[in-house]
Amino acid sequence: MHRIDKVLSHALNLSRSEIKKAIKEGWVILNESLVKDAGTKVNEHDVIVFDKDIIKCFPDELIMIHKPMGVVCSKTDPHYPSVFEVFNLSSKQYHMIGRLDQDTTGLLLLTTNGQLTHQLMSPNKKVNKHYFVTLNHDITDEAVIQLESGVDIQDETPCAPAKVVVHEPRLIELIIHEGRYHQVKRMMQALGYDVIKLHRSQVSFLTLDNLKLGEWRACRQEEIERLKQGN
Ligand code: URA
Repeated sequence: MHRIDKVLSHALNLSRSEIKKAIKEGWVILNESLVKDAGTKVNEHDVIVFDKDIIKCFPDELIMIHKPMGVVCSKTDPHYPSVFEVFNLSSKQYHMIGRLDQDTTGLLLLTTNGQLTHQLMSPNKKVNKHYFVTLNHDITDEAVIQLESGVDIQDETPCAPAKVVVHEPRLIELIIHEGRYHQVKRMMQALGYDVIKLHRSQVSFLTLDNLKLGEWRACRQEEIERLKQGN
């Protein structure tokens, strides 16, 4: 058994005094009853609600989701459910490492660890992301050369050179290490293509393996260590 203020402070990365204040102000519910005592003991089977979100007492440090279409990566959206709602995760606990569009499928990472977010998001770290891109017409050699040289998408600077694997005339794999807004779609649009389907298959060395659409899994400690070391 653990003290609820300690558990929440660890899970939400807030100080013990912030948690005590929140308890005093009535923000914390334990198994459907208001918590009054910061020293109340809890275990992993207890349901703790903090400011309307269910909090995992012992959260996984990094989780991998196989994101389906029709789910958004923002916290709320007027039209679509968010990843946090669909996978029952508190946005107070988990931070997304790079977003995918509503209509993009594939590998999405969420973490409770700010250092890991920085490690995987920082442009200097050059973490590769693999996208399978279905196009509205056949890719040309010229377009491949442009992708490999760095496409100008009307940002301050052109995109960094991408790696390209042509699987079929209308199906290419793009490997990029930046994470600009709608980057893949804008790169292809700049070259005169529409993206019909977009799927992220890999981030760094992590792949979806047998994870089915709509499933998630906790990443293993050795995977997390490898990502922290930048391998
Ligand atoms: N690039 C895009 O255009 N969309 C995504 O979802 C991811 C990368």
